[in-house]
Amino acid sequence: MSVLVDGFGRTIRYVRLSVTDRCDFRCVYCMAEEMTFLPRAQVLTLEEIATVSQAFVELGVEKIRLTGGEPLVRQGIETLVESIGRLEGLRDFAMTTNGSGLVKHAKALHQGGLARLNISLDSLVPERFRALTRTGDLKRVIDGIRAAREAGFTRIKLNAVILKGRNDDEILDLVDFARNENVDISFIEEMPLGQVSEHDRAETFCSSDEVRSIIEAEHALLPTTETTLGPSRYYRMADSESRIGFISPHSHNFCEACNRVRVTAEGRLLLCLGNEHSVDLRSVIRRHPGDLERLKAAIVDAMRFKPERHHFTTDGDVQVVRFMNMTGG
Ligand code: GTP
Ligand code: 5AD
Ligand code: SF4
Repeated sequence: MSVLVDGFGRTIRYVRLSVTDRCDFRCVYCMAEEMTFLPRAQVLTLEEIATVSQAFVELGVEKIRLTGGEPLVRQGIETLVESIGRLEGLRDFAMTTNGSGLVKHAKALHQGGLARLNISLDSLVPERFRALTRTGDLKRVIDGIRAAREAGFTRIKLNAVILKGRNDDEILDLVDFARNENVDISFIEEMPLGQVSEHDRAETFCSSDEVRSIIEAEHALLPTTETTLGPSRYYRMADSESRIGFISPHSHNFCEACNRVRVTAEGRLLLCLGNEHSVDLRSVIRRHPGDLERLKAAIVDAMRFKPERHHFTTDGDVQVVRFMNMTGG
């Protein structure tokens, strides 16, 4: 049982660890086209990330998700996966990836004990996929999804951020793709992190209710109470194993049941995606190397800084200056 409880009585069981702010894509909702990345000395080493993971698991955290940027561009990621995969008490170990490195890495990740993969996929039209990711190659990602299945991953979820006028006409195609590939899919409302340059968020915002009604014209959706401890609300279709999830930070705020915190690549314990409250774990680790108890005490103490909720709006204003790649989603 987790001993991490915040000031609002919420128990923290889920930690999202960003292993790098770098990425081989530049998704239009996530990053500026020209980014300056963190100098390496500021980024936690793999050993430091493993230590942070151990501290959280000893405090009762049950689920760890590795994120980025793109986690698979981090050198040595397989070694990190192996060491986290060995932690006793961890019930769910997952990664969110753009999929482009899966042909190369899927097998080692699976062997290292990673249980689940979430793979971002916003379009099935190659030129559009390229435009949304600025640098991504659709075929490589689809090959990556299949490589992950072949490597033995049975629990794969796709993530699609839907933007009006850019990919909202592909919702049913994405559902069909998920059904055919026998994977789950979550549709995500775009969040106002960082100043985007290619679209006006007030104009492109597409609510989960709009996405759901488009799907329901084709497939009856049966609500479920299934949870992965994440923010997705899941539905099932009668004729498929695939689940459809909706992540609706704007239209169905889920902060009341928040059970997670994040650690950025530079070791900042970020208590909420939509706020800046944070505690510098890197300085604790570097000032007191090997002192796990001190690190755990710093984490326990940080819980009092977790804010009640985010205050995202859909009017196009940026509420959080940092981009998603700095945050790990
Ligand atoms: P599962 O473990 O499969 O449920 O995944 P997940 O939804 O927890 O993780 P994923 O990395 O796939 O995240 C999907 C989307 O949910 C991303 O856009 C995240 O930014 C968003 N998300 C995850 N946690 C939170 C949260 O606490 N607050 C908000 N606003 N969004 C979140
Ligand atoms: N709003 C919503 N989701 C986002 N992601 C990245 N940036 C945003 C944003 N501004 C998604 C990615 C990935 C996950 C980690 O977060 O598509 O699936
Ligand atoms: Fe990279 Fe993921 Fe951000 Fe896209 S959403 S730029 S793949 S970190």
